[in-house]
Amino acid sequence: MKRIILSLIVVYFGNISANDKTTNGNFLKADPSQCLAVPQNERLDCWPGSDGNQEKCESRGCCWSPPNSVRGLPNIPYCFYQPKAESYKFTNVSELPDGISAFLERSSKSPYPRDVSTIQLIVTYQSDSILRFKIIDPSNPRFESPFPEIDLPQPKTENPLYKFNIENDKQGFKIIRRSDDSVIFDASDLSNFIYSDQFLQITTKLPSTNIYGLGEERKRFRVSTDWKQITFFNHDAAPQDNVNIYGTHPFYLLVENSTNAHGVFLKNSNGLELVLQPTPALTYRAIGGILDFYVFLGPTPSDVLKQYQEVVGKPKMPPYWSLGFHLCRWGIIDLESTKKVLQRNLDAGIPIETQWNDLDYMEDHNDFTYNKSAFGGLPEFVQELHKQGRRYAILIDPGVSGSELPGSYPPYDRGVELDVFVKNSTGQIFIGKVWNSLTTVFPDFTHPNAYTYWKEMLKEFHDLVPFDGAWIDMNEPSNSEWPYGCPDSELENPPYRLNTDGGALHEKTFCMTAKQHLGVHYDIHNLYGISEANITSRALSEILGERSFIISRSTFSGQGRYGGHWGGDVYSTWDELRYSIPHLLDFSLFGMPLMGSDICGFNDNTTEPLCNRWMQLGAFYPFSRNHNSEKLMDQDPAAMGEQVIRSSIKALNIRYSLLPFLYTLFWHASKNGSTVARPLMVEFPDDPNTYDIDTAFLWGSALLIAPVLEDNPSSISVYLPKGRWYNFYDRKPLNSKGEYFEIAVDRETIPLFIRGGSIIPMQTPANTTEEVRKSDIKLLVALDEDGKASGNLYWDDGVSVDVGSDYTVLEFSAEGNKVDVTSSNLGRTPPPKISSIEVIGNGNQNMMADILGIDRYPVKVICGNPTQILYYITH
Ligand code: NOJ
Repeated sequence: MKRIILSLIVVYFGNISANDKTTNGNFLKADPSQCLAVPQNERLDCWPGSDGNQEKCESRGCCWSPPNSVRGLPNIPYCFYQPKAESYKFTNVSELPDGISAFLERSSKSPYPRDVSTIQLIVTYQSDSILRFKIIDPSNPRFESPFPEIDLPQPKTENPLYKFNIENDKQGFKIIRRSDDSVIFDASDLSNFIYSDQFLQITTKLPSTNIYGLGEERKRFRVSTDWKQITFFNHDAAPQDNVNIYGTHPFYLLVENSTNAHGVFLKNSNGLELVLQPTPALTYRAIGGILDFYVFLGPTPSDVLKQYQEVVGKPKMPPYWSLGFHLCRWGIIDLESTKKVLQRNLDAGIPIETQWNDLDYMEDHNDFTYNKSAFGGLPEFVQELHKQGRRYAILIDPGVSGSELPGSYPPYDRGVELDVFVKNSTGQIFIGKVWNSLTTVFPDFTHPNAYTYWKEMLKEFHDLVPFDGAWIDMNEPSNSEWPYGCPDSELENPPYRLNTDGGALHEKTFCMTAKQHLGVHYDIHNLYGISEANITSRALSEILGERSFIISRSTFSGQGRYGGHWGGDVYSTWDELRYSIPHLLDFSLFGMPLMGSDICGFNDNTTEPLCNRWMQLGAFYPFSRNHNSEKLMDQDPAAMGEQVIRSSIKALNIRYSLLPFLYTLFWHASKNGSTVARPLMVEFPDDPNTYDIDTAFLWGSALLIAPVLEDNPSSISVYLPKGRWYNFYDRKPLNSKGEYFEIAVDRETIPLFIRGGSIIPMQTPANTTEEVRKSDIKLLVALDEDGKASGNLYWDDGVSVDVGSDYTVLEFSAEGNKVDVTSSNLGRTPPPKISSIEVIGNGNQNMMADILGIDRYPVKVICGNPTQILYYITH
């Protein structure tokens, strides 16, 4: 008999108006002449939310004036602060060896309950390019997020790029770039500054509108400052405009008008809302926690990203095999169908590295089980995949069934024993429902026993089915039923209601009063995914004795150190194909390079033309997986017909030939915090033409990918930044002044361009990454206008958790009549030999290749003999 938990009627909260609950602080009426002086674009919203009116607005001492233009309504605030409205003022400022400590007092009440009347600002000069400022309640500790795990050295500065100034008669502050006096963080007017228990608000004026990051949301790469609001409250929703989705990354990169760049990260795990307005300015609203900002002075975008990742953590090095092509779908109902789909793709010549199964493999959708009848023989199938050099990955949901027969389902029984499940407000296990037949309970991944529990579960299942990778889904966390309702409380109905999808904070998730070891769900909701990813990634490494591979749907700042992410549940539309590029590039900025959307789209049936183009683009997602929803037409490449098969093979063969280059980029990212899929703006910040480009991107600095994002145009327009480029296919040079080129396209080719000045290590494509790794290395030397080029190769065994000194780094350079290969480290697992060098550009006819000072080859056109150098001079 199943342990049945009676479903009570779900308690939904009515539309209690958030702002009705604010305190009335005896505000002085705003001065109408002051109000008139505020330009529309500079209005700071005094009644965020949609339920304001003149009376309520004026009761807050704010200005009321419906905007005089219809454009942009209703986002331009009707109710706004008058200039220099009173809030906090500095009272006591002391200089410290590494920063400043200051106190601020509030002179009048804010409209929100429980103002903290004395707050402390602690400024830390962390390094010459990183400054941190933290605003706390010095009397009562407030919740501070333990993620991302930050482990910085002692502060040390020599020539800080910034200064921190208290301004405006002690009513605000600014962070200024010393070199040119640009204001990086401008909080000189604290009129709208609020620090109350459940509502914290601060605005900074921005020095330009070239702002990027701030995700996860479906949006263009350069974030709009036209009254754009972004809500951060991790949520199970398919990407749509202006809807909060799976992850939270309150980090932005901004390119100033001087082309210097800086970045700002707010470390806060509570629900957040950000408003970008055309001033330009950015307002942060947090419904709890503290304000803990890190400011990165760059001065290049790459420097900013590196500095950001020094703080939040650099990306984990993925196992080599995970860079192969992955085949997946929901709704493959048995092992026979799984095998059939795999085989038809292998027969068609698609290089499948990893076969995946969605929750279909489970018994009754219960984690750590497999359906012994429909998926009978699964362990043997996985072993067979391993023999072929292939891999197998599975979906794991965080919630486990709470309604199995006692003693029959260890994931529940053991969880109870170890006391690891999330609790409700009265201390019993919190009951919800996801895919399980009756009820679901959820591990608290912040609990001290969570690691033991989760590792045991993974290990026991791995002993049965030796899977290689974990796909951790639904961890926003997603939940669709609350059989006992959610108790009414200020956590459930805070004084300010965030603009979250569905209205209530608990919509599709836990009650805000649910308890975890680290605190109430209200404070740590956004940390559920990262805490699961942390534990899963570590446990899997230990179980496998190898580098683990996970992708997680929910993410938080710094999660790149545990694994990757996929752009989930996207619709099969041309729009989503386009949006998948800014989505990918956002995660590059967030330090999560292992990313890619569901190729061919997840929701709704795809079409042949769309899937054709999506397979081409998807071959250049760092994480490349075709995935589909249940009950839809098949969309694996082999099912889509000859055209898609041809395109897929062509694009994937190029990907596989570039694997040593791609892997090297991941190494640079994990070592230095650089990007793999790189926005043009990051590589060419001095060229403002690149600032808006999000239909093309680079791999590192050397390869430009310009996908065709429509069915069958005869040509597409591709922007090539200034310099020499080569068409990847015919090696023809394109000398650009920084201009658009009309590139002829056919239906099976994705336009690719090699940047002059690059040396790219390549190999011979094959059916698996293991096979590719055995083939000789070929160098593609693309000379710049001065006849020079450089590049490098990182190589290790592709799986070790800690390679120690067993890795090889080769440095390549070409100049004059020489291609030089030197090494900065030679491991015991060396890369295959370099058997050919192709030089494109105006090379010297008598070129020599000097490989590690041992092999010295004349560079001549000699085809056919793999130990000799191929030398092509083209054009
Ligand atoms: C939601 C995920 O986003 C999707 O990728 C998966 O197929 C379904 N859950 C079913 O597990």
